[in-house]
Amino acid sequence: MNRNQLVFLNMVSATVFFILRHLIWIERPNFQSRIHQLQQQWTEDNDDSSSILQTSIPVNDDSVVTENDKHNDSENSTRDYNFAFGENKAYFYKYEPDRLPLPDSVSLQNAHGIYVSNDCSDQDHLECGPTIVITYQDKVDDSKCLLQWKAGEYDQPAKFLGPGSSLCAGVPHGLTAMEEVDAKKDGKGARTTTYLYHANNDQHLSKTTADGEVVWTNQYQPPVPLDKNSTEPEFKPTWFAGQPHSPYIYLADGYGTSRIYQYYKSNGTYAGRYFGGIGTDDGFFHTSHAISWDGRNSDNDDDDGHSTMIVCDRENHRLSYFAIDPKQPEKFEFLGQQNMEPYNLYQPCNIRYHPTTKQAIIPFLEGSVGIFNPPNPDEPLVQPLEGILNITDQMGKLGFLHPHDAHFLPNGDFVLVTWAPGRIGYFRKVEGGKVEEKKSAAPSDRDPFGHANTTSIQ
Ligand SMILES: *[C@@H]1O[C@H](CO)[C@@H](O)[C@H](O)[C@H]1NC(C)=O
Ligand SMILES: *[C@@H]1O[C@H](CO)[C@@H](O)[C@H](O)[C@H]1NC(C)=O
Ligand SMILES: *[C@@H]1O[C@H](CO)[C@@H](O)[C@H](O)[C@H]1NC(C)=O
Ligand SMILES: *[C@@H]1O[C@H](CO)[C@@H](O)[C@H](O)[C@H]1NC(C)=O
Ligand SMILES: *[C@@H]1O[C@H](CO)[C@@H](O)[C@H](O)[C@H]1NC(C)=O
Ligand SMILES: *[C@@H]1O[C@H](CO)[C@@H](O)[C@H](O)[C@H]1NC(C)=O
Repeated sequence: MNRNQLVFLNMVSATVFFILRHLIWIERPNFQSRIHQLQQQWTEDNDDSSSILQTSIPVNDDSVVTENDKHNDSENSTRDYNFAFGENKAYFYKYEPDRLPLPDSVSLQNAHGIYVSNDCSDQDHLECGPTIVITYQDKVDDSKCLLQWKAGEYDQPAKFLGPGSSLCAGVPHGLTAMEEVDAKKDGKGARTTTYLYHANNDQHLSKTTADGEVVWTNQYQPPVPLDKNSTEPEFKPTWFAGQPHSPYIYLADGYGTSRIYQYYKSNGTYAGRYFGGIGTDDGFFHTSHAISWDGRNSDNDDDDGHSTMIVCDRENHRLSYFAIDPKQPEKFEFLGQQNMEPYNLYQPCNIRYHPTTKQAIIPFLEGSVGIFNPPNPDEPLVQPLEGILNITDQMGKLGFLHPHDAHFLPNGDFVLVTWAPGRIGYFRKVEGGKVEEKKSAAPSDRDPFGHANTTSIQ
């Protein structure tokens, strides 16, 4: 190629680049302003008080009615309408449209996973408090996938995390945080560090620091099982989870074989063991979408193998429980399962726990979020339902159609992300069963909890 040809080629590619950039530039603000428009519309349609999310609870084993159906008496509805927990304090959740805004350069296709740091151990940071990290899929730029809001900055556009395409290419999906004790560093003794584990649907697995720096990344596919037949799906991993104080991390192949594979935390190597597979029998799954470790019944902090693995067996509409002891890594003991259908809930995507109230929060893909009380010690494998937030129904036009991950903050608020379309929502816990009324609203149009008559007591 001579010099003129090179110059010409450069000019062509610069022009193409300019046009592409311009197109992308146009696409992004459109997307953001569309969301903003929807949020404004939503705020206009729903005054302060009706942005309260109403809850429903099941009345018996096979049906669920909303509180509106069940009670006509406004006198008693504080207790019935809202959650009651701890010292019988009523509370509810309020959607906060101004929190967790996106930078203009995000074109959110789907939002998949959430990590919230639950402690404030790093006293060096001025903004001491929970950091929120979200994994999302960008419509135009697959070098982006991680958004971060630090405490005190929830009303500021997110910052991008991570090193770019090596982590984000494909379909970024599951996000899990683990506290790990690092070997002695600088002779100063062991210290605990937070790591994030990323499961990408496109057979791409990574471990990073909390700030997105890659520790290892792995394109490795576990060996095809001997009993594989031609109809069996390909490896399509969805979520990681690990037991504290174990060298292993477990990977759910949720969109693939519905197996759970065992890996090493330290280097991302497959440890050679798996369990599960497609089916409805005990210990089998239909879309083992996410796994999670439940240490709530483990009364020692060391948690030496007494916590339980919970698999969100999404299309079997149930949670399955397993005992796993890191000292016997070849043993996966099925403990039992809880079917969600009696609660009128179907597709559990993930389960997370509140650090102090020990409640669980579960997003259901068909449109709801369930809040569950800690299991009764006599029935450790049952998440007792406290209340359902019918997100799709109550968020209406804002398009929170398919809840995909939900995570508590230590103060009881929660963050929700959705798939198809991608949405990110912040839901504030409001105590006391009452919210300040808007001055413009006539008090007589409200029930005692601030709901407009039409949305509450019929
Ligand atoms: C609530 O009140 C309406 C009208 O007064 C009545 O038709 C309905 O049956 C009542 N519902 C219940 C569950 O009592
Ligand atoms: C309100 O709740 C109290 C206590 O549970 C009950 O005794 C009373 O009958 C209820 N009132 C109505 C109208 O249902
Ligand atoms: C192939 O594997 C799938 C998934 O494990 C199973 O449902 C199906 O019955 C198997 N088919 C045959 C012919 O073995
Ligand atoms: C990964 O780590 C495990 C445990 O430390 C070790 O047994 C294994 O050999 C390592 N794999 C590779 C490829 O280094
Ligand atoms: C949520 O609302 C929709 C629409 O009203 C309804 O079909 C669905 O059953 C509700 N879900 C729950 C769990 O109550
Ligand atoms: C709303 O309810 C209150 C008390 O229950 C009643 O006095 C008022 O007339 C109702 N307003 C409307 C618009 O229905």
